[in-house]
Amino acid sequence: MQREKELAAEAAASLVEDGMSVGLGTGSTVACLLPILAARRLSIRCIATSPHTEEIARQLGMRVEPFTDIANLDMAIDGADQITPDGWLVKGGGAAHTREKLVAITTARFVVIADSSKPVDVLSGPLPVELLAFGLGSTLRRLGNVTLRDLPPSPDGGIIGDYHGPLDEPRATATRLSSTPGIIEHGLFPPEMVSTAIIGRGEQVEVRNYPRS
Ligand code: A5P
Repeated sequence: MQREKELAAEAAASLVEDGMSVGLGTGSTVACLLPILAARRLSIRCIATSPHTEEIARQLGMRVEPFTDIANLDMAIDGADQITPDGWLVKGGGAAHTREKLVAITTARFVVIADSSKPVDVLSGPLPVELLAFGLGSTLRRLGNVTLRDLPPSPDGGIIGDYHGPLDEPRATATRLSSTPGIIEHGLFPPEMVSTAIIGRGEQVEVRNYPRS
């Protein structure tokens, strides 16, 4: 799997051009991307979706800026836990999905990189969720089917858990979760958020382009 992650990361890094603003995702596939991208020595401005990614990127000499005043990004590159043929993603295995979704929705081009274990025919749980600490008991009761992870709060103070309900109708589930008070964000990313998925398969990469590409 490591080689497949590297191949996908190399292909994605080659899409980045001098002068771009780039969102950096979180996870083991992005960990492959960072040194490859840094080695290109491009003049780019980066936004990191987690303190861990930020730390590694800075160590590699990349310019990482706070995501406060920046309103647009040229490209973001991130991993995924599951990818369906029509472009639905499950993300958040690394608990960074709230920041990742904000970066994905901000960027002109969202490129997903993955090894061959990530494509699926239909999504299945668990689905990562980030919950507001205030009213947590109420949110858990209303949602049902949520377990909390034994993790410290997210960098934004959210409580990380997993939703174990069905995901066979992802749009309906995403709508329900997004409209549930107490949920900060869930890990369902719709196809309209995704531009391209680059999937390492053996010594090849498979490129899937979605409507936003
Ligand atoms: C981080 O919260 C996640 O969304 C990751 O992007 C996702 O879990 C993929 O991680 P790996 O690249 O480690 O599989």
